[in-house]
Amino acid sequence: MSKPLSPGERDALSEALDRQLVLVAHGQKLSDPELIAFSRNFGELDPPGPNPYGVPFNKEFPEINVISNVIENGKPIGGLGAGEAIWHGDMTYIDVPPRAAVLHALEIPANGGGNTCFADQYAAYAALPEDLKKRIDGKRAVHDASRNSAGQLRKGYDEVTDPRETKGAVHPLVRTDERTGRKALFLGRRKDSYVLGLDLAESEALLDALWAHATQARFAMCHVWRMGDVLVWNNLGVLHRRDPFDENARRIMHRTQIKGVETIA
Ligand code: SIN
Repeated sequence: MSKPLSPGERDALSEALDRQLVLVAHGQKLSDPELIAFSRNFGELDPPGPNPYGVPFNKEFPEINVISNVIENGKPIGGLGAGEAIWHGDMTYIDVPPRAAVLHALEIPANGGGNTCFADQYAAYAALPEDLKKRIDGKRAVHDASRNSAGQLRKGYDEVTDPRETKGAVHPLVRTDERTGRKALFLGRRKDSYVLGLDLAESEALLDALWAHATQARFAMCHVWRMGDVLVWNNLGVLHRRDPFDENARRIMHRTQIKGVETIA
């Protein structure tokens, strides 16, 4: 992965990402420039979203997001800490969310934990009961921008007290992929989401039903990390979450995001 790819290899990886949704490679040791160069095989990069501290974690390579619980000189070197990260899609609170993410394990806890799980949202949509498919056809929801998946408020955002006033991008509940034409549920993150045009109670009930369906074990797989792993996931076709791990252990992951293209309703 540290070497340039041929156009044929690049196309094969991109097609695999469309089809398989999560790609796993073991035993890599990528420097930040190598991680950036590998990620660019999938397209242009998106900078990370705002974090709770208001400054990029990786000042030398700001296109890299650092996911870590490590504190150095009294400051976190990365985001999300050691707790659970709840089900979400990355940065779906922007109008054109990233197509993919690349996550490289630089240090992982020796005693395990911190597994990352993915739920296939194409399979979830295909398995929806017909009446629910009809109910959500053409409906759109707001994806909250205020909190990260560890529940922390991002710098510059206020607490949401009424989901009807949530700040973030509005996306169709069902997303048609511009590359494959396949339909996926597109839910973003549950907290403070709101389905436009519904009463708040109706929206809450519909979202609860969709989230309970979308995150079932039958649509999911969990990755047990090894040092040096690189995962690439199709951010528009899966939701992901992360298990907690021992807060006294060190876990350092570097992540890039690949820009998406305009969503088709
Ligand atoms: C994330 O939610 O992007 C972090 C995943 C992880 O820490 O494994």
